[in-house]
Amino acid sequence: MRLRRIEDADVNGKRVLVRVDFNVPMKDGIVTDATRLMSAMPTITHLKSAGAKIILLAHFGRPKGQRVADASLMPVVAPLADMIAAPVEFAGDCIGPAAEVAVSALKRGRVLLLENTRFHAGEEKNDPAFAAELAKLGDIYVNDAFSAAHRAHGSTAGVAELLPAYAGLAMQRELDHLGQALRDPKRPVIAIVGGAKVSTKIALLENLVTKVDKLFVGGAMANTFLAAQGHDVGKSLFEADFADTARAIMEAARKHGCEMILPVDLVCAREFAPHPDTLTVPVDAIPADMMALDCGPATVDALADTIDACKTLIWNGPLGAFETPPFDTSTVEAAKYAGQRARENNLIAVAGGGDTVAALNQAGASGDFTFISTAGGAFLEWMEGKTLPGVEAVTD
Ligand code: 3PG
Ligand code: MG
Repeated sequence: MRLRRIEDADVNGKRVLVRVDFNVPMKDGIVTDATRLMSAMPTITHLKSAGAKIILLAHFGRPKGQRVADASLMPVVAPLADMIAAPVEFAGDCIGPAAEVAVSALKRGRVLLLENTRFHAGEEKNDPAFAAELAKLGDIYVNDAFSAAHRAHGSTAGVAELLPAYAGLAMQRELDHLGQALRDPKRPVIAIVGGAKVSTKIALLENLVTKVDKLFVGGAMANTFLAAQGHDVGKSLFEADFADTARAIMEAARKHGCEMILPVDLVCAREFAPHPDTLTVPVDAIPADMMALDCGPATVDALADTIDACKTLIWNGPLGAFETPPFDTSTVEAAKYAGQRARENNLIAVAGGGDTVAALNQAGASGDFTFISTAGGAFLEWMEGKTLPGVEAVTD
């Protein structure tokens, strides 16, 4: 398995189709978080200086094959042009005459963004005819959208079979860092997994127990494990149907020599609302009329000690109901601690997946982490050990 790297391609004067992930947070036509635009900059800069004609392909939202006005990529043009400090052309369609005319007018070193690939049903179906239309527009294909690489779509997989295909610099950076955390890590490795449900993270936990030395489970997921161990979790959110799954995961962890770590104390409340009366109790003393909403301080202390004993940390999911204060406390404290260790003690700290990035931002810890993935679903699937079609398409 070897990634074909963009640096090895001769792109001078060539039309290079670059699949990026510009599925950015947007409100009233304004981009509210430009992280994903930023992550495409190294590849765009590389191609500009190498004299390529840069044609950007991306999806936005889930318009399901329909041309939906509020799913247009047009609002991305201005912030992108600001970032690269050069004009960005825009074509109102990603295939057909509008795209072809715009591509043939494109000069070396210039950037053209094509309209949302998901305006065509062929994109998500990975229809060969759609992929062939895309392929007409380029001489070389680059996938720089790790966060969309779990989709086998026309612009992430189909077109890659029709053109010489390479991984862009952001894609490489993602894979290098995730590999450093899970495939070939400095040990011991701790995984911190949080979130509400075991049911959505079974494959993830099953894979992690075979790979990491320590696995900390937090969030409401931990309640399911605690209940499976026989603790009374009161009114806490937990999945009674997944007690067997939780026990099987704990058994698999034992078999693989992975130490599973659960909370030792919990912050409980009678209502799930901002700043209610709370009670912090050991896990075997959750009052029958209360629900656990966050990990307690003894848990955070123990987790900090465990982090100290590790060289690599991989984090997915919050440790409590972090959107509702004060139940963000353990997530914020643990994230700050991990960030500080990454900054001062060479801990390799990698995080990703949906809520995780928001939680780390809230903790002000993002800047201290070694790497934060731009991916949600793709990060999870990669951590589950799955092959991602968009990565496979640029791998020998
Ligand atoms: C994301 O935002 O996670 C990616 O762009 C993939 O989007 P999707 O879940 O709509 O395929
Ligand atoms: Mg999530």
